Amino acid sequence: MKNEVTLNNGLKMPALGFGVFQIPDFDECKRVVLTALKQGYRLIDTAAAYGNERAVGAAIRESGVARDEIFVTTKLWIQDAGEQQTKLAIQASLDRLGLDYIDLYLIHQPLGDVYGSWRAMEAAYRAGQLKALGVANFENDRLQDLMMHNEIKPAVDQIELHPFYQQPQRVQWLLEHDIVPEAWGPFAEGKQGVFTNPTIQAIATAHGKTTGQVILKWLNQRQIVVIPKSVHEARIIENAQITDFELTEAEMQQMADLDEKQSLFGNIHDPEAVKQLGNFKFNY
Ligand SMILES: NC(=O)c1ccc[n+]([C@@H]2O[C@H](COP(=O)([O-])OP(=O)(O)OC[C@H]3O[C@@H](n4cnc5c(N)ncnc54)[C@H](OP(=O)(O)O)[C@@H]3O)[C@@H](O)[C@H]2O)c1
Repeated sequence: MKNEVTLNNGLKMPALGFGVFQIPDFDECKRVVLTALKQGYRLIDTAAAYGNERAVGAAIRESGVARDEIFVTTKLWIQDAGEQQTKLAIQASLDRLGLDYIDLYLIHQPLGDVYGSWRAMEAAYRAGQLKALGVANFENDRLQDLMMHNEIKPAVDQIELHPFYQQPQRVQWLLEHDIVPEAWGPFAEGKQGVFTNPTIQAIATAHGKTTGQVILKWLNQRQIVVIPKSVHEARIIENAQITDFELTEAEMQQMADLDEKQSLFGNIHDPEAVKQLGNFKFNY
């Protein structure tokens, strides 16, 4: 994949960005986003529920990088589902970010009144407040339904994708329907010794790269946008250096063989998980 992808509405999106989940502290988040922007990242992935949109906006302003060179993604949390609430939530995100438009706005979870939310998002899109619309954690059947009953087609589905949960059919379907797959948790948040996995380590050694870089490159070669998170400058730099090598077909197959075909972060089809997500409320 090239350094950027073209969304189904023509908007360009960087193929590699920076995620800021689990960085709630204002100063820390601002510092790492500034570092990422200084190191050449041009996509920042935040969410209303992460509690750090203000820090992201502050870093963007302080960075000196032109607004139109930065691609900002944020997300609508379940508590704001529904047409009226979503309209207010979009404005609240714009206010916290201190921006007059958001590049990509995602429904964070396929829960609550997502159809009402989508109508409000379509209106904000037409008004120029949102440049592209998408979803996260939507299975393909939910996406198909959303597409059939609305005018604007989702441009992106951000889903859990890493060496232990690869979801090849789901990714294939997205690509066939011109919806960009974007990986959250590309490193499985470090679970199951992903950074010291012997298979990934051997591929990394062969290319003189790190295991993290191999994982990101493997996703990139599968046409998947990546948004790794780190609070360490050296890792932020490392994670962006994936353009100077290519995995062979055999190496891609070795990576494919690591698939354990199960989420490491819970099952959205479990009523208890739905209850937990629905009960999570943020207030900031
Ligand atoms: N839509 C959704 O539902 C959803 C869910 C989860 C995440 N996301 C998005 O996806 C982004 C990425 O996912 P994630 O943050 O959950 O997890 P991740 O990127 O898979 O993993 C982050 C972890 O890996 C460590 N790490 C990063 N680079 C490393 C490197 N080169 N070597 C060793 N360790 C490294 C980080 O530690 P340090 O920070 O200590 O370096 C952190 O513990 C999020 O930030 C968020 O924007 C979306």
